[in-house]
Amino acid sequence: MAYGLLKGKRGIISGALDTNSIAWKVAEKAHEEGASFVLTNAPIAMRMGEINKLAEKTMSKIIPADATSTDDLTILFTEAQEILGGKIDFVLHSIGMSINIRKKIPYTESNYEYFMKGIDVSAMSFHKMLAVAKKLDAINEWGSVVALTYMAAQRVFPFYTDMADIKAMLESIARNFGYHYGMEKKVRINTVSQSPTKTTAGSGIKGFGDFFDYADAISPLGNASAQDCANYCITLFSDLTRMVTMQNLFHDGGYSNTGVSNAIMQKFGIGE
Ligand SMILES: NC(=O)c1ccc[n+]([C@@H]2O[C@H](COP(=O)([O-])OP(=O)(O)OC[C@H]3O[C@@H](n4cnc5c(N)ncnc54)[C@H](O)[C@@H]3O)[C@@H](O)[C@H]2O)c1
Repeated sequence: MAYGLLKGKRGIISGALDTNSIAWKVAEKAHEEGASFVLTNAPIAMRMGEINKLAEKTMSKIIPADATSTDDLTILFTEAQEILGGKIDFVLHSIGMSINIRKKIPYTESNYEYFMKGIDVSAMSFHKMLAVAKKLDAINEWGSVVALTYMAAQRVFPFYTDMADIKAMLESIARNFGYHYGMEKKVRINTVSQSPTKTTAGSGIKGFGDFFDYADAISPLGNASAQDCANYCITLFSDLTRMVTMQNLFHDGGYSNTGVSNAIMQKFGIGE
């Protein structure tokens, strides 16, 4: 069911790689809710060509941009405004990559070149995006920017290795940039801390499948799906959440506030 929550709004959606991507679901939902937007991803991700299907379905244009390049981001924000016919109302940062995770390198033995690359792609890119947008004055007052994060920024999940530190930085950027951009232009900036989700980035993590089931068994509502995440992002882009900014918002079926569940205790032969 559509509510027209984003009717007349213009956006930029990054990170849609394939139909499993959280950004893919956000784009479909934003289209349903009446938004017009451009899609963006790293030039290398375009080669798979999947994104063309999404562009067709949502009647949107694609602007390739490596999120670590301020030049690419400048072109992205400039062209997006030209294509959409005005300033931007919402931005989704849905970008994550760790070579240490990909190569299954333990946290204590992290390769620092890979670590730096992970920081640049997954956290600094958020700062760069916001800095470029602010410099170009590309976002409307009361515009909304959302980045996706994971709870390993607050608590230890050993398999998440360097991405735990990187997500902590991402969330900190949301708070700090949120202060400055809010003060000057009333632009709001939040992170959504999402349940484990079966996507390319998620499934690349060692032991992800087992952990997915564990989180599902602990969370009172079960894991939040990519579709649920998209629905939540839409509310944050809408005018219904105008006073929400500089927050890290857990979207995890209650996982973050649950110590243990009966289902898990039963596995150990204790509890009802
Ligand atoms: N999947 C999960 O379990 C989970 C849980 C919480 C948060 N998240 C976060 O959600 C976000 C989206 O990930 P996803 O799970 O949908 O996986 P995904 O693999 O579908 O999306 C990651 C995207 O990042 C893009 N990307 C990588 N390097 C880039 C660069 N240099 N410039 C521009 N784009 C680049 C990829 O092309 C891809 O589209 C990430 O920030 C991820 O950390 C995922």
